[in-house]
Amino acid sequence: MGEKPKLIVNGVRTDGRKPGDLRSLKITAGFLHRADGSAYLEWGENKILAAVYGPRECVPRHDMNPYKACVRCRYVMAPFASLEEHGRSGPSRRSIELSKVIREVFENVVLSEQFPKTAIDVYIEVLQADGGTRCAGITAASVALANAGIPMKDLVSAVAVGKVDGELVLDCNKIEDNHGESDVPIAFAARNKDVLLFQMDGLLSKQELGKAFEMAEAASEYIHEVQVNALKEVYEKKKAEIEGENNGV
Ligand code: CDP
Repeated sequence: MGEKPKLIVNGVRTDGRKPGDLRSLKITAGFLHRADGSAYLEWGENKILAAVYGPRECVPRHDMNPYKACVRCRYVMAPFASLEEHGRSGPSRRSIELSKVIREVFENVVLSEQFPKTAIDVYIEVLQADGGTRCAGITAASVALANAGIPMKDLVSAVAVGKVDGELVLDCNKIEDNHGESDVPIAFAARNKDVLLFQMDGLLSKQELGKAFEMAEAASEYIHEVQVNALKEVYEKKKAEIEGENNGV
């Protein structure tokens, strides 16, 4: 990993941000045309595709639940996603863990009782990684699920708060993630602020943890806005197309 670089100099982080700043976030919903729903997200240097299929026939049948849809999730990082050598693509210990915690997020918001015996598959492909990919993946997948028309209690917005050089910072990039003292990814349901994911690497005091939650919650409101705008854009585009057809354009 090498020697720890200085991560905050005169209140400014390695990429020029202040401690409470997010990296720039762009989401395009309906990015893929074969999937039932999809989203492409760029969050700082992270580039992530999310695709959703379903509700569809549940295969293998032993996954099938007679009372609700089986929500499945696959998070993978492309072999070329970062400077680190990943060797081969496909599942790793880390990606299996992330797929599990992300599945648990969506099991808690998807109204799966409406679709017994079916499967809803959520695929998250990390094309380029720079820290915070689980939060970015959840944020993208939530848009993809809504784009697929899957009924949910709410959209999910996620962001990590870290501690670097003794200070709490929002939305760590990779260098801050790797060399920082702590990294806390949190996912919120937009309306009631239910905490759907909470993980913690390293240590924080009780006070710091409280502050980290406040920072993440405030940021989640902005992230939610970007998600909603991405979904609205698809709708507006469709609406304009239909109106164009009706006017004989
Ligand atoms: O991405 P996230 O912060 O959710 O997960 P992490 O396991 O804390 O990884 C932090 C960052 O390290 C990732 O975003 C990647 O940039 C990098 N990483 C990688 O390139 N290859 C791995 N096998 C693990 C992490």
